[in-house]
Amino acid sequence: MSLADCRIITLPKISDPRGNLTFIEGSNHIPFEIRRVYYLYDVPGGAERGGHAHKDLHQLIVAMSGSFDVVLDDGFQKKRFHLNRSYYGLYVCPMIWRELDNFSSGSVCMALASNLYDEDDYYRDYDLFIKALKSEK
Ligand code: TYD
Repeated sequence: MSLADCRIITLPKISDPRGNLTFIEGSNHIPFEIRRVYYLYDVPGGAERGGHAHKDLHQLIVAMSGSFDVVLDDGFQKKRFHLNRSYYGLYVCPMIWRELDNFSSGSVCMALASNLYDEDDYYRDYDLFIKALKSEK
């Protein structure tokens, strides 16, 4: 899998004058079953999150409120995505280095994940991530 597999998924949106509604069904709207949800909030101005890759984890990242950028890197190229709508999700496949920055004030970043938290699934060192990519080829 590579950067080409990562993409913005437009989620279902039920528009209603009383307020809009979006829903996400695992394996139906996104290419994995959801086993975990986590969110980032109260992010101070100028902060950066991420800075790691996952060996096997699939994720969908959604700006539930406000906006932020996600920079994805598959070791060959980088791509910056701006997320600012709660009906857009960024699908991130395994073995992609990600950095999150440019958080607007009050923004909330929700991540849906294909597995439970497991520190052994992380590459937190960029050089080790690149070495692992090369050994995969
Ligand atoms: P990390 O994944 O490094 O955060 P981010 O990529 O958003 O900057 O996680 C930060 C800390 O939180 C780290 O100590 C692990 C812990 N954590 C959990 O315990 N469970 C989780 O589901 C997540 C995502 C993180």
